[in-house]
Amino acid sequence: MEVLSVASEVYPLIKTGGLADVAGALPGALGSRGVTMRTLVPGYPSVMEKLNGGRVVKELDDLFGVSAKLIAARVSGLDVIVIDAPTLYDRPGNPYVSPDGWDWPDNWKRFAALSWVAAELGMGMVDGYRPQVLHCHDWQAGLAPAYIKYGPTDTVKTVMTIHNMAFKGFFGPEIFGQLRLPPHAFGVGGVEYYGGISYLKSGMECANFVTTVSPNYADEIRTPQFGLGLEGLLNGRADTVVGILNGIDTDAWDPTKDTALAQTYSANTIHMRQANKQALVEKFGLDGSDGPLFCVISRLTDQKGMDLLLQATDGLVDLGGRLVVLGSGEAYLEDGFRHMTARHPGKVAMTTGYNEALSHLMQGGCDAIVIPSRFEPCGLTQLYGLRYGCVPVVSRIGGLADTVIDANPAAIAAEVATGVVFDPNSAHALYEAIRKTVRLYRDDKLWKKIQRRGMKSDVSWDASAARYADLYANLTGLMTNDDP
Ligand code: ADP
Ligand code: GLC
Repeated sequence: MEVLSVASEVYPLIKTGGLADVAGALPGALGSRGVTMRTLVPGYPSVMEKLNGGRVVKELDDLFGVSAKLIAARVSGLDVIVIDAPTLYDRPGNPYVSPDGWDWPDNWKRFAALSWVAAELGMGMVDGYRPQVLHCHDWQAGLAPAYIKYGPTDTVKTVMTIHNMAFKGFFGPEIFGQLRLPPHAFGVGGVEYYGGISYLKSGMECANFVTTVSPNYADEIRTPQFGLGLEGLLNGRADTVVGILNGIDTDAWDPTKDTALAQTYSANTIHMRQANKQALVEKFGLDGSDGPLFCVISRLTDQKGMDLLLQATDGLVDLGGRLVVLGSGEAYLEDGFRHMTARHPGKVAMTTGYNEALSHLMQGGCDAIVIPSRFEPCGLTQLYGLRYGCVPVVSRIGGLADTVIDANPAAIAAEVATGVVFDPNSAHALYEAIRKTVRLYRDDKLWKKIQRRGMKSDVSWDASAARYADLYANLTGLMTNDDP
């Protein structure tokens, strides 16, 4: 079975968040299940740099008015098809915004182009390659199912995966004339959304199947609170919407062999994490107190509840904790944490920007990772935390609630607790969760049990890759290798 994954980011070629991790890990996990997954990705500078070679499989004279080449290559274990269209993608900044933080004004065109090429590939544009399924990720790939639905042939099946409903890919109605869709596509059953155009809604409406990245989020987005106006659409096609939990790449994230760590360790040598903690203490200029070291590795945004953590930081320090923050995002939150580092020298420290290696060291050396998200489709940092013995302290929401078991008395007695889960999502409840974490940490035997259990829990792609493979098989009527 050939599946084309359509993604605006894929690790290790380009990453701004969890979508890249998922798009990067899923093809490998599907390989043993009879699914060959190639990934279609735009040729941003960081992608082109890593390509080293490849084969031009198609030249396009008029991709929304620009010329482009499609380059097929194998890079970092991934089979990719890269859209080399410098006019659209050869730009500084991250894939979506300019260096000064503004959305590129032609994003509608840049990602319509991604979707257009995906659909053309699905319809056999390149000789000798014809995927049976297009697996489209987030709004950037959301027009592809529409191009198939309204195109000359819809034999290729489409799956739309929602990683984040908050990003709808919304544009004004004036772009419609340039999208190369028939007039009737501008309607409730097509790309139209509140008078404009939403690429995400288009994908959710037109795809044969819709998935999201945890079962709990799949339920949440059917309600007005989390559905943000799209709950009606989801409820209307409830039998073709499902939540499939993300896994992680357990090779790239393996504390027994992670080269970013000062000291590797396993569930049986948890005490050796201490060397990583010490490396962090030195790196961040922390004092030598003996309380738990909390961390944040995150986009600093409202979604991630970082304002709640700011409100709870004085309390965290009063309780004997220390906090290290790795992240960047909204200015008021970056300023807020900077202010906290000045207020609590040796106790609170921060590194802004993006640093993959440091994120590994923090998971390998901090005692707990705080994730007070307001909504969280899945969340990956709690899964990395579990795998590394960095105990997750999370709000009871989305995929966080699906993956972390709260250390309440019953769970402790049953020996199943893997973290601390709190609600409601307020600064006070977060503070209480931090207090509980400090208490658990002070009970060394219990704490190590919680850490060890997390490290042994299954956060791999195994089960979920099987579910995706089944989904593709059901959609196409084809069998995978696993089928009898
Ligand atoms: P989201 O995709 O909503 O940002 P996830 O938890 O799914 O949240 O994924 C975030 C990914 O980005 C994880 O791999 C996390 O380790 C990584 N990450 C976030 N911020 C940083 C940062 N500043 N430096 C390094 N990695 C980061
Ligand atoms: C999104 C979500 C996050 C999820 C990730 C990968 O960025 O915010 O919760 O883990 O996608 O699916």
